[in-house]
Amino acid sequence: MPDIIQLLPDNIANQIAAGEVIQRPASAVKELLENAVDAGATDIQLIVNDAGKALVQVIDNGKGMSETDARMSFERHATSKIKNIDDLFHIKTMGFRGEALASIAAVAQVELKTRKEADTTGTFIEIDNSTVKKQEPIAWQQGTSIAMKNLFFNVPARRNFLKTNAAELRCIIDEFIRVAMSFPDILFTLTSNGQQVFNLERGNLKQRIVQILGNNYSAKLVTIQEQSDYMNIYGFVGKPETAKKTRGDQYFFVNNRFIKSAYLNHAMMNAFEGMIAKDSFPMYTLFMELDPALVDINVHPTKQEIKFEDEKIVYAFIRSAVKHALAQFSITPTLDFELDASIQQLDAVAKPFTDDKKAAAASSSLYNTFTQKNQAHFIEKKSELKHWKDFYEPAAKTFEQKAVDGEQETVGGEQRAASFEPAAAFKPLGVSYEQKNSLHGVTVDLHSLVQIHNSYIIVQNDEGYLLIHQQNAHERVLYERFIKATNGKPIAIQQSLFPVTIELAAADVALLSELLPDLHYLGYHIEPFGKQTFLVQGTPADVHQGSEKTAIEKMLEQYKHFSTDLKYSKREKLLRSLAWQQSIKAGTALTLKEMNTLIYDLFQCDAPNITPNGKPAYTAFKKSELDKLFGR
Ligand SMILES: Nc1ncnc2c1ncn2[C@@H]1O[C@H](COP(=O)(O)OP(=O)(O)O)[C@@H](O)[C@H]1O
Ligand SMILES: [Mg+2]
Repeated sequence: MPDIIQLLPDNIANQIAAGEVIQRPASAVKELLENAVDAGATDIQLIVNDAGKALVQVIDNGKGMSETDARMSFERHATSKIKNIDDLFHIKTMGFRGEALASIAAVAQVELKTRKEADTTGTFIEIDNSTVKKQEPIAWQQGTSIAMKNLFFNVPARRNFLKTNAAELRCIIDEFIRVAMSFPDILFTLTSNGQQVFNLERGNLKQRIVQILGNNYSAKLVTIQEQSDYMNIYGFVGKPETAKKTRGDQYFFVNNRFIKSAYLNHAMMNAFEGMIAKDSFPMYTLFMELDPALVDINVHPTKQEIKFEDEKIVYAFIRSAVKHALAQFSITPTLDFELDASIQQLDAVAKPFTDDKKAAAASSSLYNTFTQKNQAHFIEKKSELKHWKDFYEPAAKTFEQKAVDGEQETVGGEQRAASFEPAAAFKPLGVSYEQKNSLHGVTVDLHSLVQIHNSYIIVQNDEGYLLIHQQNAHERVLYERFIKATNGKPIAIQQSLFPVTIELAAADVALLSELLPDLHYLGYHIEPFGKQTFLVQGTPADVHQGSEKTAIEKMLEQYKHFSTDLKYSKREKLLRSLAWQQSIKAGTALTLKEMNTLIYDLFQCDAPNITPNGKPAYTAFKKSELDKLFGR
């Protein structure tokens, strides 16, 4: 028998190894950005085309490479960052494995341009499938540009495995943010298909957070800073009122590396306990610095988990530092002068505060929300609740007002139905308020409605009774209404008298732009208005004038929450998000009329028994079973 074992050719070995490091365009983004940081750049530009599938390019003004190093950098296990095993425990750079460039060159076409400050000419290298195609001297600025083109052109199976451009771009933005967040003193830009998505000027961490996560956080950040022999932590958490319904704006870094840790997240949640609603997530950007010997970063290059020598100490440290900071902020609210120099020029700061000005200020709503909000226990009212109430109050009032005025209510006739005008989220009854209505083959006695726990509605039918979950039921109703809307029966838009502008974080801009056409069917008339700004011209009638901004932000948040679920289309996710967000929440007291409308609408639905996500909307109980319970 001849021997059969052979060494794999380099390009195949590299391709296999590359699978570990480069799984998608975003992995290359991370590696190239980190290399630029390690090269000491102060200016780093990321350019992507086609969500990185066609091009990922990073241009930096770092220290550059000599001709020999440039060629060497594409070899596997070639690195300038460690020399021996001991160095692993003192790593100050982001990279150290020497695998990234070799991997990228194995699965894409790569163009490198680089020059060291001291050199008069730079080097150009073109590599394709691990093979050098061209190498020549070029004129180039100091620093390095690496362009990765046509990722996986030579591994079609992997190329097919990539997700949609929207999903891949999202991954790229996530990686970009993680690096940009740790190095606020470096200028970062991100350009996608020729459009600038981020332009992050150099500044301090606080400014960087606001640049990335949006202006909503300016003056709403609490400083965390605690030092000990074991470790130091610093960073910011959002004030409790900025907590969101979806996890998202949460970043942990260990020695400047982004990490994920459910355990440390728990420490954070613990510190916020009692200050934010149970199901909401605080913003945090927290940097931990500790002796590299006490953490194991030598984990898989694409994994963000990390091993601490003693996790419990880190947990306790975070919890107490954050608790401490939150307690301080709630006692002494501080205005943030550092962030906005223009505050200094305001009349209120520059001119003396007279007594009548004081009185005027004290009665203003701004003053009231300010003084109220700085109490640690103050939790902002959920806007969904407010909105639900808002659109019912006018209808309820007319009803009560009529009773006061002594007007006759004709129960059971067309007149009663006509006088009841719920806002547009609930269509008018359209039927008379009969003692009984035949809905979906079930005869339901609408007079027998009872609400319990402000969450369930009990309604009697011929066979027994139904126990309806009000929020689940409403989600179903809204969802089917939205489906109809997108299938050509658009929801009426109420044009705003005073169109409002909303400013979004850069990542949300891309998202909202994508959703605009569908949102138009759903009653939202929104137009792009400058780089990160949108003009809201109109909203569905049930969105209260003045709360358009919150409604849209909540909707985006919820959409992102759903967007991890890849099996749904963009539109489907949007419908589900809106239905969830606009639904009346459990815990909301309902009037008889509201319950009536809800149940009527529910049984008009094609699938009244479940929510879009498959939760039951009601359960039926048989009278015969009740009788049995009581020995009858
Ligand atoms: N942007 C850059 N500027 C200067 N040198 C670079 C740059 N990118 C890569 N290099 C050099 O190429 C080497 C290999 O890079 P890489 O494959 O990412 O491995 P690692 O970063 O783990 O060392 C680095 O050690 C560094 O010396
Ligand atoms: Mg590297």
